[in-house]
Amino acid sequence: MQTSIDGIRIAYTDEGQGLPPLLFVHGFPLSRGAWQNQVMAFAPTHRVLAPDLRGLGDSGASAGPTSMARFAEDLAALLRELRVGPVVLVGHSMGGYVALAFQEGFSERLCGLVLVGTRAGADNPETAAKRRASAEKVGAEGIGFIVADMAPKMLAADNLDENSAQQVRALMAPSSVQGVASALLGMADRPDATPGLGQIRVPTLVITGAQDTVIPPNESELLAQAIPGAQLELIPHAGHLVAFEQPAAFNRCLAAWLTRVDPGRNG
Ligand code: MLT
Repeated sequence: MQTSIDGIRIAYTDEGQGLPPLLFVHGFPLSRGAWQNQVMAFAPTHRVLAPDLRGLGDSGASAGPTSMARFAEDLAALLRELRVGPVVLVGHSMGGYVALAFQEGFSERLCGLVLVGTRAGADNPETAAKRRASAEKVGAEGIGFIVADMAPKMLAADNLDENSAQQVRALMAPSSVQGVASALLGMADRPDATPGLGQIRVPTLVITGAQDTVIPPNESELLAQAIPGAQLELIPHAGHLVAFEQPAAFNRCLAAWLTRVDPGRNG
């Protein structure tokens, strides 16, 4: 399905019925297909939404940096349009940065938060500079080098066969040059979300792949320590793309935690 938000085409999956609704937000430079195993598993019992963030997957791009707050506004506008909420927002990696921006701006639309392979801190100056250089290179050369560099890092060494790597590349391939550059610039500029963690009032689950080398598990430990009442789950034999690599373990963990969520209580 698709709609127009702020003049930009936003493509999304909307399946199933049941509370609480689950809003799955993918990472960079991925697309909503990264959640295919979760859509299948949860649509029989929940309304499941999974958009492509602007500029990524099949969604249209906008010029200039896309801030995490802008991505969050897009999500809030989508929920308003579809008259859905409050939701459990499940954000992976950059989707987790967006989830924390959403929690800052739209906590009334949340009844639970799931932070997957992500962190609260901002980029250090060196990382931010690398992202800005990559954004320029994407403009000149296209997204091929980003896909080639990032796809293998998404998976734990044990799960890195050619077929899986090809599937991950396919989740990245539709993203546009403008969209990838804009997201890189937005991530480079993003603020430190750590000060807001203590204010989170909704049940929170933090999940990490035990072998995540992109955002190592200690970042998830820090998140879980800082968020009141947060539950931390470490999934073995998984890297950065934990929900894709170990869907059964991930879905079991999410389903068990969902019993703690009151769909009528927002943050
Ligand atoms: C992601 O998976 O979304 C990215 O690795 C996040 C990042 O580059 O910080």
